[in-house]
Amino acid sequence: MKAKILDHLQQADTPVSGERLSKRLGVSRVAVWKHMRQLQEVGYLIETTPKGYRLVQAPDAPFPWVMGDRGSLVHYHLELPSTMDAAMTLARKGCLAFTTVVAERQTKGRGRLQRRWQSTPGGLYFTMVLRPRIALAEAPLINLAAAVDLADTLHDLYAVDVQLKWPNDLLVEGRKLSGILSQMAAEPDRIDFINLGIGINVHNDTRGVKPPAVAVAALTDRSVSRARILEGFWERLALRLAGDRLAGVVDQWKPRAVTLGRMVTVQTLTDKVSGRALGVAPDGALVVETETGQHVNVLYGDCFHGE
Ligand code: BTN
Repeated sequence: MKAKILDHLQQADTPVSGERLSKRLGVSRVAVWKHMRQLQEVGYLIETTPKGYRLVQAPDAPFPWVMGDRGSLVHYHLELPSTMDAAMTLARKGCLAFTTVVAERQTKGRGRLQRRWQSTPGGLYFTMVLRPRIALAEAPLINLAAAVDLADTLHDLYAVDVQLKWPNDLLVEGRKLSGILSQMAAEPDRIDFINLGIGINVHNDTRGVKPPAVAVAALTDRSVSRARILEGFWERLALRLAGDRLAGVVDQWKPRAVTLGRMVTVQTLTDKVSGRALGVAPDGALVVETETGQHVNVLYGDCFHGE
C-alpha cells in the first residue's frame, strides 16, 4: 500500500487529498492517514496542506516498499542490537531464502573475530538468509562470491573500484568500505542456511574509525542510494546461486585481490598463521607459505597484511 501511496504522490504536481487516495486505492481515509503517519515516522517529508498531501522529500533507505517484488522478504528496523541475531531467529524458524533483515543502526553490530562493527546511521547494515544447494565444502566460496558481487554492484552503480582482501573485505586505497560476516547452520550432508551479514559505509561518517574506513558517498559525485546497492547486490547473488556459478568465483575474485603475493598473518579463532599468501585454493582457502616453506591452507579467519 505504501508503494502505491508514494507512487500517487510522486506523480502528482499538486497536493493529493486523502479522499482521492482512499478512492483510488480502495481503502479507508483512516488507513491512508495511518500510512502517511508511518511514512513520516521513518523520514518521509510529507506536507499536509488543506488540499491534501504533498511529498517533499523521500529518504534513501531500503524500505520494503521501495524494493519491488523483493519487498516482502525485507524486514526493516530503525534500530537493532545486530541484524545477525534477528536473521538467525528467522532462519531457525524456516524463513524463505533471501529473507533480509536491515537496520538503520545497530547497537551491538559485530564484525569477524568478535570485533565491534560501528553502525551509525547512513550506513547499510543487513543480514541475508541464504539457503544454497551446495556441498558443505563449497560454503566458504559464498564469502568470496558476496565480495565479488558487491564489488561489481558498486562498480556498476558508482564507478567505485574496490580491492578485495581475503576473504571478503572491500577496500579502497587500504581503507575499509565494507565487511562481511557469515554464520552457517548445516548437517553433514546439507547446508540449512548461511546468513550473510554485510556492513557497507555509504553515507555515514567514517572519520576516526579504526582501522581507517571510507564511505561510498565520499568516492563518487553521483547520488548514492542504499536501496539500489542492496537491490543490485541481491540481483547478482540470486542469479549466481540460481545458476551454477560458484565454480568460477575464485577466478573472479583474484584480479581484485590485494592479498596475494603479500606477507600476511591470518588470525583464526584458535590459531595464527604467518607467511606469504601464495594463492586461493578452489575451495576458497588462502594458501600461505610459512617461514619453513610449508604450505598451509586457511579456510576461515581474518587476514592482516604485512609488507
Ligand atoms: C567484518 O569486516 O569484520 C565484518 C563486518 C560485518 C558487519 C555487518 S553489519 C550487518 C551485520 N550485522 C552485524 O552485527 N554484523 C554484520
